[in-house]
Parts: sequence; C-alpha cells; structure tokens
Amino acid sequence: MSRLVVVSNRVALMEEGKQAAGGLAVAILAALKKTGGIWFGWSGKVVDGESQVEPTRTEAGKLTYATLDLGRRDHEEYYNGFANQTLWPLFHYRLGLISVNRRTREGYERVNAYFADKLEPLLRTDDMIWVHDYHLIPFGDELRRRGCSQRMGFFLHTPFPPPELLTALPNHRDLIRELCAYDLVGFHTITDLRGFCDYIRTETDGTVEQRGAYGTAMIRAFGRTLLAKVFPISIDTPALESLARTAGRSRQAERLRESLVGRRLIIGVDRLDYSKGLPQRFAAFEQLLESYPEHCNRVSFLQVAPPSREDVPEYIAIRRELSEMAGRINGRFAEFDWQPIRYLNRSFGQRVLAGFYRLANVGLVTPLRDGMNLVAKEYVACQDADDPGVLVLSQFAGAAHEMGEALIVNPFDIEGVGDALQRALTMPLGERKERHAALMQTLRRHDISWWRESYVDALTRAPYDFPVT
Ligand code: F6P
Repeated sequence: MSRLVVVSNRVALMEEGKQAAGGLAVAILAALKKTGGIWFGWSGKVVDGESQVEPTRTEAGKLTYATLDLGRRDHEEYYNGFANQTLWPLFHYRLGLISVNRRTREGYERVNAYFADKLEPLLRTDDMIWVHDYHLIPFGDELRRRGCSQRMGFFLHTPFPPPELLTALPNHRDLIRELCAYDLVGFHTITDLRGFCDYIRTETDGTVEQRGAYGTAMIRAFGRTLLAKVFPISIDTPALESLARTAGRSRQAERLRESLVGRRLIIGVDRLDYSKGLPQRFAAFEQLLESYPEHCNRVSFLQVAPPSREDVPEYIAIRRELSEMAGRINGRFAEFDWQPIRYLNRSFGQRVLAGFYRLANVGLVTPLRDGMNLVAKEYVACQDADDPGVLVLSQFAGAAHEMGEALIVNPFDIEGVGDALQRALTMPLGERKERHAALMQTLRRHDISWWRESYVDALTRAPYDFPVT
C-alpha cells in the first residue's frame, strides 16, 4: 500500500502536541495511520522576517507532521491576500468583494512554490499525495515542475463558481491549468463539478466526458488527463450520535437548559464569515418575532460565531455589522427577563456543541453560499430520535444536495426564512421524526469514513489515461 502524503494549509497538530478533534482532522488522521505518511502544511504561526527554512518534523508512530512557519509578508500576500481576499469571495460567488492585484497573486504562487520546495525532498516515488483546498491549487503543478510523477489528488472544500464568475479573475486560465496538474480533482457537489466542466468546455480546447456514475467526468485539457468527481464530505455519524447522548447531560448543556426556563431554542454555529448569511439570519429571526409575536419571550436564538481571518477588512466589517444588529434587535424586543438573541464571538469544543445541538429545537443553517456546511449534518446527528429538532437549511449550502428532508430555504428571502422558523417551531412530532429518520439514513450511509475511503480509493486508481467506471 502506498504511503499517503496529505497537504493542507492548516495542519491539525495543536501547539501542545494534541490533535484537533474536528471531523476532517480525524478522517485524515485515520487515513494516514492506516498507510503511514506525512501531513504537511503551515504551522499556523506567523513570524517576523522570512518563512521557515526547514520544516519542523514531529513524529507520531507511522505518521510525520512537517510544518512551516510563514513570514509576515508571505502570510499577508498568500493567506490574507490572494487566498482570502480574491479566491474565497470569488469561489463564494461574491464578485463585489474580490480584490485583484498582482502582488498577492505573486505571493500566492511564491508560497505554493516554497511549499513544494520543502515537501519534494521528503517524497518517495510511490507516495500518493492528497492536497486540500483553494490555498494550494498551484501546489501540484509546482511539484510536477520539480519532476514529481506521483499520483496527486486535490479536494476543494469550497464551492467552485461557474465560468461567468471565474473569468473575472485575471489569468484564470493559469489557475485552471494548475488545477489540471492533479490526477483527481474532488468537489462537494454536482454544481461545483459542473462549474469546472463548463469552464473546460467554454474557456479551453479541452474535452469533458461523463464517466460511469453520475458526478464523474474525465477531463482532457492542458495536455493532461484527469478525473473530476463529486465526493460530498460528511461527519463521523456514529461518534457524534453517541457523543450527543451523554453531552446533553453535560454541565454546560444543563446550564443552557436552566437559563432558558422552558423557552424554545434556535441555534446557529458558524465561523464569522460573510458567506454564512448571518445578517440575513438575524433579520429573519427579527421577522419571526414581528410576524408571529406569540414567540416573544418564548424562544431564544443562540448564535455562536467565533471570529476568523481578523486582519481582512471584510471580516472586520461583518463583525461590526452583526454586533450592531444583535444590539438593535435585542433593544427592540427584549424583556427585563428575556434576551432574544444570544450572540457569542467565541468557540466551543465538540462535546459542548453536541450538548447544545441536542437541546435546540431548531438548527438554523442559512449560508448565502457554502461548500458543504458540516454544522447542518452535526445538528441532525446530535438529535434525540424520539423528539428531534428541525433543521432549517439554505438551498445554497452543499449539504442541501443530500438533505432534502430539512426545511430548505432561500436565505435571501428574509420573510420566507421567518415563515420556515415558524413552521419548524410548530412542526408536529410525527413529521419531525420522519424527517429526522430520513436524514439520518443518509448520514449513516455517507459518513466521513465513506468520504475518505471513496476519495483514497479513486486516487489509488490514478493515473486515468484508461477507461474508468
Ligand atoms: O471552508 C473552507 C475552509 O478552508 C475549511 O476547510 C476550514 O475549516 C475553514 O475554511 C477555515 O478557514 P481558516 O483556515 O482561514 O481559518
């Protein structure tokens, strides 16, 4: 069995040597432990001066973590700049928010080349390399330029936009040519795959051929042959189900329950990001209180929103906007013994969140555009099957492709989301159970192990210059 080398912008190795508990980290670690291998990427640290010359290696059994500290300029141009001020808004269909300049594009290419320089000496000829996310699109091409002919796969954790949007990026062809250096390119949904295939058809001389199962395409472009395929990421369903059974009785969940004094609970949990549709969500909750005043003093909305990418101006702006909105809505509706919105700029561990999800009558997941959104899946897996809460889910989250039994909403339609909240809060037990059971069937069939195994299995069969089914 080939050794697996995972490359991602962040490496889930925490400073004190403990691994992060996130589902993706657990899945990748499981794959790495099976085959042995390397997890390579940014350490999460920014240092004065130049980026680190040699990777820091941390051994853990058959697994080696190799991480690099980024110098301030590299971090600014690669991470804050091109990755998060150009590609992130572009891939989330937000052309109005993209900033385009040559300096950050060069920084992005430079850091990808630097990462390739540092990984290349650690590689063996029969390694299988799995690269993650929009920060690292050129990485495979950089390795190929250094003579690496190993099997290489890429997985995009964000949406992929249609060509009409992508072509707003100067030198978009170079980026897609770089993407075609991989043997396998994975997307969350058929919409993302279609965006990529449409680009190949309309903007290049390449060809797209549908292969075998729906959601699989053979691409021939830029002198290469690659497979592009849909692999919807998921959660560790059994682990979450069992965690939620006891987490509902944790001290924090108890405190939350007591603080509600019998009121209903709506929960939202998101990184503080403009793609998550939080202002629209706050407005929809306000709409609920306005249109259905019987909920005043009877329902609380808990929004957990840990700040992220705090140096980027658009993130500073959305944070300010949300604080103002929460203050205004609370000022308008609060009673001396009831605060409608509990808005928290902090994060919680998985166990605490599982307890909160279990307690919540409604999970409100309304991004304007999202690659997958695992909170939607986690919320469902944490419910009590005998008295489950209701998921209200944006049609623009990747998760909506598989979770049709949720209440699917258009997050731009504030009144519509307000009505969906009313429907969720008043849904009879029988309907809640039916919807929950159907959603759980999907989450049990397609969990994180299924995602990882199907991706690694497809990569094992590369290169694809022969017919695949
Ligand atoms: O959704 C894309 C993604 O890269 C996730 O994989 C990750 O959890 C998230 O964004 C976090 O972003 P950052 O590393 O910028 O904090």
